[in-house]
Amino acid sequence: MHYNSYGKQLTDEDIKLGEHRKFVGSYWELLGKLQFDYLLKQGLKPHHKLLDLGCGALRGGIHFIRYLEDGHYTGIDANASLIRAGKTELKKVNLDRKSSNFIIDENFEYKKWGGNFDYIISISLFTHLPISKIKKCLHAVSNTISPEGKYFTSFFRLECDEFDKKSCHNDHGIKTHDDNDPYHQKISVLRKISVPMDLEINYKGNWKHPRGQEMISFKKTQGA
Ligand SMILES: C[S@@+](CC[C@H](N)C(=O)[O-])C[C@H]1O[C@@H](n2cnc3c(N)ncnc32)[C@H](O)[C@@H]1O
Repeated sequence: MHYNSYGKQLTDEDIKLGEHRKFVGSYWELLGKLQFDYLLKQGLKPHHKLLDLGCGALRGGIHFIRYLEDGHYTGIDANASLIRAGKTELKKVNLDRKSSNFIIDENFEYKKWGGNFDYIISISLFTHLPISKIKKCLHAVSNTISPEGKYFTSFFRLECDEFDKKSCHNDHGIKTHDDNDPYHQKISVLRKISVPMDLEINYKGNWKHPRGQEMISFKKTQGA
């Protein structure tokens, strides 16, 4: 992948040393619990079908798998070694016997994903994607989400909305870019690209992310 650093594959030795926890951005416990608690507040129930898009090494996935009914969790990621690492994390807490679905996919090839997901979540995925990939991602979401389903995705919001800045520092000192990892996005642009995909956008804002990522949600446009 030329647009972020997640093309790098971790070795089994790296995984044994816990390198995957750093590779997905650290804050292992905090961000795992934060995303889980967030979806609970948004109404996630054990019978729902959840897609964790860009699941990485299951920082959040562990919590979701523990909570959901057998087989109701699907994790998709571009990086095969991170999914492998996630499976070792599941084993450590005896969750490997629970059935979950894992798919390695970098190109949002949604026809292989199954569908009718009640909830879809992407934590720190948009922050590593250029807008061309976000479009593909939203197209895939629109084709796999249930009619009443919700997609929650974290992102860096371009705060200096009125200026056409290429790079920005957010309140947490993170430098984000238009055309480089980590990427920021304008809400107006996300709204514009979601309309032809029959998706309606809802800005959620601060959800206590330690690096100032904000939350946005999408659902199918009524009557679409
Ligand atoms: C910062 S990590 C976050 C992982 C996970 N959501 C979490 O909270 O730990 C970003 C993840 O996005 C994945 N990713 C990056 N580009 C992707 C793409 N085009 N398709 C699917 N996954 C992608 C990376 O491999 C990585 O696992």
